[in-house]
Amino acid sequence: MKNILEEFNKNGYAIVKVFDKNTINKYKKKVLRNLKKSADKKSISSLKSLSKLENYFNHVSDEDHEKLMDRETRTIKIDDKDAKIIMLNKFEKIFSYFSDKEYKIFRSNNVYSWTDGDVSNFAGFRIVKPKSKKVAGYHSDHYNLKNFRFTAWVPLVGFNKKYSLKLIPGSHLIKHGREATTINNVGTATLIKNKYVNKFKKPIRPNLKPGEVILFHPYLIHGNSINLGSTLRVSFEIRICAN
Ligand SMILES: [Fe+2]
Repeated sequence: MKNILEEFNKNGYAIVKVFDKNTINKYKKKVLRNLKKSADKKSISSLKSLSKLENYFNHVSDEDHEKLMDRETRTIKIDDKDAKIIMLNKFEKIFSYFSDKEYKIFRSNNVYSWTDGDVSNFAGFRIVKPKSKKVAGYHSDHYNLKNFRFTAWVPLVGFNKKYSLKLIPGSHLIKHGREATTINNVGTATLIKNKYVNKFKKPIRPNLKPGEVILFHPYLIHGNSINLGSTLRVSFEIRICAN
């Protein structure tokens, strides 16, 4: 489809090449630096010799991985220049359709509180081991983020269908009610019942290339994205809303 806004309104998401290879490598380095810094603080010495993010799970036990995946470790700064690229890229057409206000990148200060305030130009990253069940089930970000926020999902390691985010095209056309939700066993997100999910189209996992970003609507149902690849998945998500 040629028109990105048409595509976004029909499917609830759009995929655009936003970043070049150098930028992707820069964020991989940032993630690596965060992991090492946190490992140091938590007296996990096995990461000292890690030089390539791809080898992370050869250096860390499952238990230590859990310890490292706290909010402090997982927060990275998005450089102003890259924030601008996201806002002013082809996505601008989508943002300006939903609001005339200026858009900003936010990360909640505290995952358990909506009143704690936000920090600008920060994003959270995730690292998922192959076949790990520790991924959020189907949900829409709308409940979890309170405000009407778009998410830009950026893969850093693992790009094809086996790794990418699972999305249900067209599921954003409904503002899912509380009756559609259920409690979560993994993490803090409010999940959507399987029975409800089955009413929609089949989920898809796009084949992405490095630098491509999925921007999706706050009501879009996504998740259950088990890493079916042979190596780890590293991705970060940028939350964007009108100020
Ligand atoms: Fe989500």
